[in-house]
Amino acid sequence: MVEETKLLYEGKAKKVYETNDPNLLIIYFKDDATAFNGKKHEIIDEKGALNKAITTKVFQWLEECGIKTHFVEENSGREIVVKRLKMIPVEVVVRNIAAGSIAKRLGLKQGEKLPRPILEYYYKSDELDDPWINEDHITAFGWADEETLKKIREIAFKVNECLREKFDKAGIILVDFKLEFGFDNEGNLVLGDEFTPDGSRLWDKETGEVLDKDRFRRDLGDLIEGYEKILMKISRV
Ligand SMILES: Nc1ncnc2c1ncn2[C@@H]1O[C@H](COP(=O)(O)OP(=O)(O)O)[C@@H](O)[C@H]1O
Ligand SMILES: [Mg+2]
Repeated sequence: MVEETKLLYEGKAKKVYETNDPNLLIIYFKDDATAFNGKKHEIIDEKGALNKAITTKVFQWLEECGIKTHFVEENSGREIVVKRLKMIPVEVVVRNIAAGSIAKRLGLKQGEKLPRPILEYYYKSDELDDPWINEDHITAFGWADEETLKKIREIAFKVNECLREKFDKAGIILVDFKLEFGFDNEGNLVLGDEFTPDGSRLWDKETGEVLDKDRFRRDLGDLIEGYEKILMKISRV
């Protein structure tokens, strides 16, 4: 049995614990919802439990698609057991449809289909509000080398193909999502962190209803109702 030993890190949405196995961590999903880099913050009952269930299902899908992730197994409550990684401090975003910052930045219509999937990088820094960066920043500052970036790009697009199809079967449109990568103790590049509606945009295929955290960011309705719908739909695929 994997047991928590000490709290390693507490972030905005999760807590990360070391365990009795030096290669494994436990991730606990909190009920906190934050937006605009923490400027809007609420505790929303059951959010952590839903995120744990959604991320578990998505990591299982990714495994079916042959993509290496840190996911090991579910733990009790709102926890999962993962492989310990040395994280790259970069958020990798894949977009299929214009929404949020890309629409604003490039003057696109919300909901406009992009010519092809587009990948973006953001530097993971709360103090700096996760600024938009390019590959040159990443290699110049040594956050990752060119070979790693090439692999990240390949994996991120493969994740997109895999999940677009799975979500489509579930009756959900995969608009965009954020990934984080790291290296395991053997030096393999592995997908880490989470896949939840906190870090992705998921719209109902039939009605166009927003089911993700934009409900909270833009006051579009009860967050939990959206997350429950996502879980119900993906559980059938
Ligand atoms: N397998 C892993 N090994 C080590 N750290 C991880 C792993 N998966 C995710 N993390 C890190 O754990 C933290 C998760 O907590 P979160 O609340 O999302 O933090 P943040 O507010 O920094 O995004 C993140 O900093 C993430 O990069
Ligand atoms: Mg995070």
